[in-house]
Amino acid sequence: MKTRVVRVDPVHPAPGALREAGEVLRGGGLVAFPTETVYGLGADALNPAAVRRIFAAKGRPGDNPLIIHVADRESLAGLVKEVPEAARALMDRFWPGPLTLVLPKAELVPDEVTAGLATVAVRMPNHRVALGLIAAAGVPVAAPSANRSGRPSPTTAAHVWEDLGGRVEFILDAGPTGVGVESTVVDLTGPRPVVLRPGGLALEDLRQVAGEVTVDPALLGREVDRPRSPGLKYTHYAPKAPLTLIEPGPGVAPQVVGEAAWRAVREVLAASPHKPVGLLFLRENLPRHREAASATATAFLLAELNQDAGAPPATVLALEAGPATDPAQVASRLFAALRWFDAAGVAAIVAEGISPEGLGFAVMNRLRKAAGAVVRV
Ligand code: TXA
Ligand code: MG
Repeated sequence: MKTRVVRVDPVHPAPGALREAGEVLRGGGLVAFPTETVYGLGADALNPAAVRRIFAAKGRPGDNPLIIHVADRESLAGLVKEVPEAARALMDRFWPGPLTLVLPKAELVPDEVTAGLATVAVRMPNHRVALGLIAAAGVPVAAPSANRSGRPSPTTAAHVWEDLGGRVEFILDAGPTGVGVESTVVDLTGPRPVVLRPGGLALEDLRQVAGEVTVDPALLGREVDRPRSPGLKYTHYAPKAPLTLIEPGPGVAPQVVGEAAWRAVREVLAASPHKPVGLLFLRENLPRHREAASATATAFLLAELNQDAGAPPATVLALEAGPATDPAQVASRLFAALRWFDAAGVAAIVAEGISPEGLGFAVMNRLRKAAGAVVRV
């Protein structure tokens, strides 16, 4: 299949491009488009055949339901059975935005979208291109993240192309997304809101509006038999190289994380000295790593996300995640960094973790999912 890629301005997208992509959706085709979180892979949510094509293009298990994206509150009426008071308050405050609500589903929504569940996930994205596309299509748009299953969510159109080029009709390219991690998914079908997936909207913000909000036990690292969100049972976001996450306890300083990370890097280098090791580090630790590298005669290459990888063996390929004090910045760079390390062909990745506050909760959730080993400090 030929994939058409059209560049659009993120703030003032050309109506012609949106119309064209909207027609593809109405005709049962697949359109990848930017949202404020990550790129999505859209299909007409009310067309079961089109929705099945999303699963085929992604290689996604059929029992993992999709989020329906709407451009206005009125469109919800046909999709959900009821909107409880708590949901209304959350929409008033946070829509459009990185918040997905799980509500009782209406008859009209095909089982293909919800994987046969009695509930449906809905969200209104805060991105002009997404909103313009949905409006142009004139149908609600089912869209998972636009990656092949098991790959990090795409934060640029180039990532989408890497995974889905030749498998979808249309890609709207509006440059890098802002938030960088997916929306926060909240279940509103019970007596109080439950976070099923931490994401672009911080738990602290949710609680300001919804009061008592609980968190699915699966997110707190405890074993559960049956996760509430079907997506939780899949290992997502895993890069090709094994990732070791350094996880700080409460109040642990970035330099302690940095010291543990460097030890982990040295271990990998000792085990496979002929391949580069990826190090995702906190800004606070750059001087320390440079010093440690020179003290141990280890080649240390400070890389940039927008530069191609290419390194001699026995090298630490270091990418900055952002400052430990700015989880939003770390979130915005996270998935691109994991893809970058994959492209660089590193033997292993060591990632320095941050405190799970604000967007740090989503960052650490995604890193834990990507990690084969976690070192707690
Ligand atoms: O930011 C986002 O949410 C992006 C953009 C494109 O909107 N979308 C996204 O979709 O991340 P996806 O399919 O990659 O993740 C959706 C998550 C999955 O973990 C899925 O299991 C969960 O939402 N989900 C969907 N419908 C659900 C339902 N009815 N009940 C519980 N969980 C649901
Ligand atoms: Mg996804």
